[in-house]
Amino acid sequence: MSFDQTNWVWMNGEIVPWAGATVHVSAHTLHYGSGVFEGMRCYETEDGPAVFRLDEHLERLYLSAAAYGIEIPYSKDELEEAVCETIRRNGFTSCYVRPICYHGSASLAVHPRNCPVEVVILAWPWAAYLGDEALERGVRVTVASWAKFHSRMMPTTAKGCGGYLNSMLASREAAGSGYDEALLLDESGNIAEGSGENLFIVRRGRLLTNDERSSILLGITRDAVIEIARDLGYHVEIATLTLEDLLSADEAFFTGTAVEVTPIRELDGELIGSGVRGPVTETIQRAFFAATFGRDLRYRDWLHLVAREPAAIGI
Ligand SMILES: Cc1ncc(COP(=O)(O)O)c(C=O)c1O
Repeated sequence: MSFDQTNWVWMNGEIVPWAGATVHVSAHTLHYGSGVFEGMRCYETEDGPAVFRLDEHLERLYLSAAAYGIEIPYSKDELEEAVCETIRRNGFTSCYVRPICYHGSASLAVHPRNCPVEVVILAWPWAAYLGDEALERGVRVTVASWAKFHSRMMPTTAKGCGGYLNSMLASREAAGSGYDEALLLDESGNIAEGSGENLFIVRRGRLLTNDERSSILLGITRDAVIEIARDLGYHVEIATLTLEDLLSADEAFFTGTAVEVTPIRELDGELIGSGVRGPVTETIQRAFFAATFGRDLRYRDWLHLVAREPAAIGI
């Protein structure tokens, strides 16, 4: 993937050309990772482009910012409109959206006092994160030698820029050993999550996933999948998960904005279940995409249409 230089970026209240959306090398966040961000997807629905769970993503952005003492100088309504404006201005029918709030340039003391809080929204078309085949065939995963940082070290439920160094080390290690993705264990040796996704396992027709006690980011996709699965009549249990649980599972899958619902077919050379996408995973996947593409009316509240209301544009 490479970025299209003709795209537009929302930067501190203005739409600017991609090439003009620059940051000074003395920006605090460049040195210390002192920012927070979000990742969401916009899907092409019958009623036009719509952002999946925009409200929840912005809610988490403000919670992440609060966890790091970052005051976002825009209201949630303003950022909601800014996300939509960015998508509209780029003319995208579907895309990934990345708002980021970071400390700009003023001082390089570790405490970011006096550093302005800058807010930027990027958007670009982004196909299947782990490759086109991943959604159907599943991915090969390895257990990272790096543990997921514990909530006593940094807030795990906040999406902080610096926290992704942990994910990056795990992801590079996995790629270096020929795997698609890394699975990180928590401090106690239980499963935490993937480098950028949550984990579900399926056992005897029931779904299991862990929670913040296992140092995970509480994914918005995870939350959607729990609700969808329960609506489909599956029993969903929140429990600590061990590697044995995963290895003996009938099926397993990752959830996340980037990976959506991606089956896991192998862990360090051991097949999960029969090593192909399982029937429960496929059912959940279908229901998830029916929600994201607006085909299942029960979940229409999760979609935020990008087009302006006719009244707002004077039609
Ligand atoms: C570490 C980590 N865990 C889980 C997730 C899944 O979160 P969500 O479903 O909100 O995208 C992400 C993606 O943002 C992530 O980076």
